[in-house]
Amino acid sequence: MYTIDLQQKVAIVTGAHQGIGLQIAIALLDAGCKCVLVDLNEEIQATANRLAEQFPNQVYAVQGDIRTKKSCEEIFVKTMDKFARVDILVNNAGIMRTTPFLEVSEEEWDLVMTINLKGMFFLTQIVATYMKDNQIEGSIINMSSIAGRSGRPLAPHYAASKAAVISLTKSSAEAFGKFNIRTNALCPGVISTPMMDEIFEKRKIIEKQDPRDTFLQRIKLDRLGTPEDIAKAALFLSSDLSSYINGQAINVCGGYEMN
Ligand SMILES: NC(=O)c1ccc[n+]([C@@H]2O[C@H](COP(=O)([O-])OP(=O)(O)OC[C@H]3O[C@@H](n4cnc5c(N)ncnc54)[C@H](O)[C@@H]3O)[C@@H](O)[C@H]2O)c1
Repeated sequence: MYTIDLQQKVAIVTGAHQGIGLQIAIALLDAGCKCVLVDLNEEIQATANRLAEQFPNQVYAVQGDIRTKKSCEEIFVKTMDKFARVDILVNNAGIMRTTPFLEVSEEEWDLVMTINLKGMFFLTQIVATYMKDNQIEGSIINMSSIAGRSGRPLAPHYAASKAAVISLTKSSAEAFGKFNIRTNALCPGVISTPMMDEIFEKRKIIEKQDPRDTFLQRIKLDRLGTPEDIAKAALFLSSDLSSYINGQAINVCGGYEMN
């Protein structure tokens, strides 16, 4: 009764080439789900090929950029051509820029907002329309951040985009809940991924000290998070084990934030 079996399900995972997205895809595949791995990076095909050795007939790669509605539509069409359904949408793709508040350019603001928010919005609009019209009991998972819970003077655009993701999650949950489509957000803390490695390097230069120490002082579990920590939460939200959870933003941060 309380097991996770996603064998009849199909998921789209954006930003699946590396880091958190890749690990979420692996967790879903391991539960029997078919997965469309979407990424801007052209290496996504090679990543999918590697995974297909372990999970034959379950993996499909789409090199795509979620920045435009047209590209989101192409991702959906390719998914339908390949697997003919979508049950789970993991809006994970995102970027972070470490730039002090007074130095953020208009171009960088637009880039962060377009990838972190606009792409998520239109892919959700397209997939939710399909789920609603086809009576799919879907799960939509949006990647926010604990940065969206408070402020980040060294990444104000990023924090604002992630706060907006929480709002978008609530709107989506309200709009589609009555159709049995659940939408929830995950708010990861400090997770060891290529993105976080880049942030550590930049902050070390700006602050002239290793930011890991500052982070560890706040993380009650006394360790950085791993992509697996986030994948386990995403797997739970993808499955029927979270059947009555809708419109929530769940911190997965070892106790860094407690709100
Ligand atoms: N790493 C952390 O500590 C942390 C903390 C909180 C939230 N998050 C969020 O989790 C998500 C994944 O983070 P990560 O650390 O794994 O990042 P990452 O940079 O390691 O991986 C992100 C992936 O998204 C892809 N991507 C970027 N722009 C894209 C676009 N326009 N279209 C399609 N794919 C695109 C990249 O090519 C990359 O493969 C992001 O939304 C991030 O903001 C991460």
